[in-house]
Amino acid sequence: MERLQMLGGYASLFRDFRHEDFAGFVERHDRLYADARRTGDYTAVTRAYYAFMGRIISVAYGADCHFCPPEHPEQSRVEATRALHDRLALHASLGRETHGLDVGSGAGGAMLDLAARRGVQMTGITLVDDEVAQCNEAAKRLGLEHRCRAIVGDARSMPVDDGSFDGGYAVYALKYFDRLEPVFAEIARALRPGARFVVYDIVKTNRFDGENPAHTRVVSGFEYACGMPDLHTVEQIADAAKPHGLVERARADLSEHYPWYYFFETTPLLPWLVGSPTVRRMVRGLERLRLLPTGFAEFNDTFASGTVHALLEGGRAGIISGSAMLVLEKR
Ligand SMILES: C[S@@+](CC[C@H](N)C(=O)[O-])C[C@H]1O[C@@H](n2cnc3c(N)ncnc32)[C@H](O)[C@@H]1O
Repeated sequence: MERLQMLGGYASLFRDFRHEDFAGFVERHDRLYADARRTGDYTAVTRAYYAFMGRIISVAYGADCHFCPPEHPEQSRVEATRALHDRLALHASLGRETHGLDVGSGAGGAMLDLAARRGVQMTGITLVDDEVAQCNEAAKRLGLEHRCRAIVGDARSMPVDDGSFDGGYAVYALKYFDRLEPVFAEIARALRPGARFVVYDIVKTNRFDGENPAHTRVVSGFEYACGMPDLHTVEQIADAAKPHGLVERARADLSEHYPWYYFFETTPLLPWLVGSPTVRRMVRGLERLRLLPTGFAEFNDTFASGTVHALLEGGRAGIISGSAMLVLEKR
């Protein structure tokens, strides 16, 4: 059922979003990405990306813009995602009577879940107004508004008090920072001494070879399509945290038994739809016949199908992992 929903999310791109200005988005993304590569500041391209892509991503994946493997093949995507959130809470020691920080909280899937099922008081910081509205509206709908609040802000200067959090996490968010030091400085400031912070992210693995054109094609294509700087390795993340008194306590990759891209791979038709040259040609043909809007084919090739295809290619080659976890403790 969930897999049909993911497939439906893909189909809705053609149906519900066909009146969007795809050509405008691609042109803006190109320009802002070139600026970001030059300056090392990805805030503008990330903000524009999520302002446009946020709704599309929500239709496809709900409020959880992160992926994880199941613990066993019968586990659904919702159950696997909840199990991931439980791990975040466990490693960050977040439960009732604790205040948790979600850095780069997006539409708030993880924080809403932890507030609802574990009674954690959650504050999320994220870049885009729409993401904040989506999270806070969901909190209200679920009667969680007293416990779960998202705020618009930049993780490098968070509108929160020193030492005000008992723990926290960043899920699929640190990959948007070319330099991690300013974010870790802020995270360290916001946490109380002894608090733990969990990073769960998409990283380059040590199988990635920067001299191998097939590797760089997949990884740089993915980075461009998401408006991100060069992906970090887990070592780079741990090294950037250390000078801020955030010491590594544990490190793991959750893909020990099943891959982090499991739910893409096992959704019927999806790997074919996103990778097939025939489908790509058909989409181009439909655009030429004006049955799809101008710029849609390019958008689909790079940002929709292209991103999922890159995740699958990079995941299968073992050069990127979307299930890297690092547990840090504030000294
Ligand atoms: C892939 S989404 C993940 C969202 C959420 N953590 C989740 O897993 O569902 C990345 C998020 O990082 C946020 N982000 C990127 N740069 C940021 C910054 N400078 N400050 C705060 N949030 C940022 C984006 O707004 C986006 O919501």
